Amino acid sequence: MNVQRIMLGAQDAAGPMGQGYRGLELAALPEYTPPLPRAGPGANVSHEVAMILIDGKQTARDIRAELKAQVEAAVSAGRRAPGLAVILVGEDPASQVYVRNKERACAEAGILSFPYRLPADTTQEALLALIAELNGRDDVDGILLQLPLPKHLSASACLLAIDPAKDVDGFHPENVGRLSLNLPGMVSCTPAGVIELLRRYNLPTRGKKAVVLGRSDIVGKPLALLLARPGEFGDATVTLCHSRTPDLAAECRSADFLFLAIGRPRMITGDMVREGAVIIDVGINRTDDGLCGDADFESVSKKAAAITPVPGGVGPMTIAMLLKNTVQAWEGRA
Ligand code: GUN
Repeated sequence: MNVQRIMLGAQDAAGPMGQGYRGLELAALPEYTPPLPRAGPGANVSHEVAMILIDGKQTARDIRAELKAQVEAAVSAGRRAPGLAVILVGEDPASQVYVRNKERACAEAGILSFPYRLPADTTQEALLALIAELNGRDDVDGILLQLPLPKHLSASACLLAIDPAKDVDGFHPENVGRLSLNLPGMVSCTPAGVIELLRRYNLPTRGKKAVVLGRSDIVGKPLALLLARPGEFGDATVTLCHSRTPDLAAECRSADFLFLAIGRPRMITGDMVREGAVIIDVGINRTDDGLCGDADFESVSKKAAAITPVPGGVGPMTIAMLLKNTVQAWEGRA
């Protein structure tokens, strides 16, 4: 087998792999017969494999533009613009940057943001009172409580106080329960962004072996649930691995789709990955030589059929999905 690897951007990926890409509804498409060369798990490769570099930055830009158009159309027809309340308690520098980016993205999409910057010594009662007020406001469709909170505050009590219909982070136990029961609800932004990337690059997981590394409440666990639920971009046989998994390398090698969310810089190397696997790297690790993912990109990309880079892969999708959830909440409250 002569394997030639070609680096493709999102735009190019629409050729060999992605008829579903660029805003088209997959459900509306006729049966897809991929032309050769074809990449993907289990692909019957006769001469050449194209490695797809999954461009989360461009995909996020596309989603934000779609949302902007949707909001603009509704507003010009006389509807109130969507509104997102953004609460930041304290002065954590990283959280300040995240919150600023979220507010900027809202503005670009035509979503109003209502910023609440509270001092680090804010009491639990004051924070709960603010959440109760926002729950009752008609112009607020979504409430985002930036985490982590200062140590004296209970994140779980505050998240529980947010109206589930306004819980654009998908952290409320009702929304987590809805996800596990496959009922409509808000889905945590990062795992929702991962599934959206698979959808837009037409990389169906149905019938495939998916391995998720990391069992966090906001990425690993909801991602495993999304991959297991019925649908073309679900219906996977899912293994959820964590720090007590005995032979992590063997689990990784068994994966058609490998999702990395453990926060260990370059821990997963090429020898731990099956030839032709799809690698979705959720890790964002700060090292002396810059940002990197949980995958050793250099060696893993040599074996992958498709891979997300870090930065520029899953990361930009999180904000795009936050905006999408806000627009969904707004539509639900029409
Ligand atoms: N802190 C880090 N990531 C997130 C996120 O996705 N949502 C909230 N609310 N806080 C965070």
